[in-house]
Amino acid sequence: MDFSQKITARVRALHESATLSFGDRVRALKKAGRDIIDLTAGEPDFDVPVSFRQGVTNAMAQGHSKYLPGRGLKELRDDIAAKLAAENNIMVDPESQVIVTPGSKQALFYAFMSLIEHGDEVLIQDPYWVSYRAMVELAGGVLKTIPTFEKEQFKITARAIKDAISVRTKVLVLVNPNNPTGTLLDRDDL
Ligand SMILES: Cc1ncc(COP(=O)(O)O)c(C=O)c1O
Repeated sequence: MDFSQKITARVRALHESATLSFGDRVRALKKAGRDIIDLTAGEPDFDVPVSFRQGVTNAMAQGHSKYLPGRGLKELRDDIAAKLAAENNIMVDPESQVIVTPGSKQALFYAFMSLIEHGDEVLIQDPYWVSYRAMVELAGGVLKTIPTFEKEQFKITARAIKDAISVRTKVLVLVNPNNPTGTLLDRDDL
């Protein structure tokens, strides 16, 4: 039986992440003995700090391996709200405005699922990180890309954003610094 036919059209329409498929290819070539410089997933070139590893080990030893509140540990949400206030001048209520997720991919997916109605447009600068299109399309939205150019250091402009806005625009994704260009907008541009 061909089980792929049981998978929804929604999921079948998705394209595989180019980063992950290149990553698999690099791993296979390295295993076959090829000397490859891997520029796929952005792994840091340092190990997880010892204090983090020790913290996780201690927590497991102390039995902290049960279900947590759905929004995440209260103490962690309080610390996140305190960090946002002190370092980013963003005031949030840790009870109702902070959710802990296993990565930003998860958080972005929740945000798109919560904000996008069928056919809503999401604006993003191009080039953009691979997973945004799949996330927006899964949520029923339409990704509308705004080109940026090497001769302008890949900076997105307010003019280009204004021109791209339509009656269906619901979300602007502004990644700063951007991946993959590394472009950092200055305060005036922001
Ligand atoms: C722009 C951008 N958004 C989201 C992600 C996903 O982040 P995470 O690994 O925390 O899910 C990445 C990862 O490289 C990224 O570069």
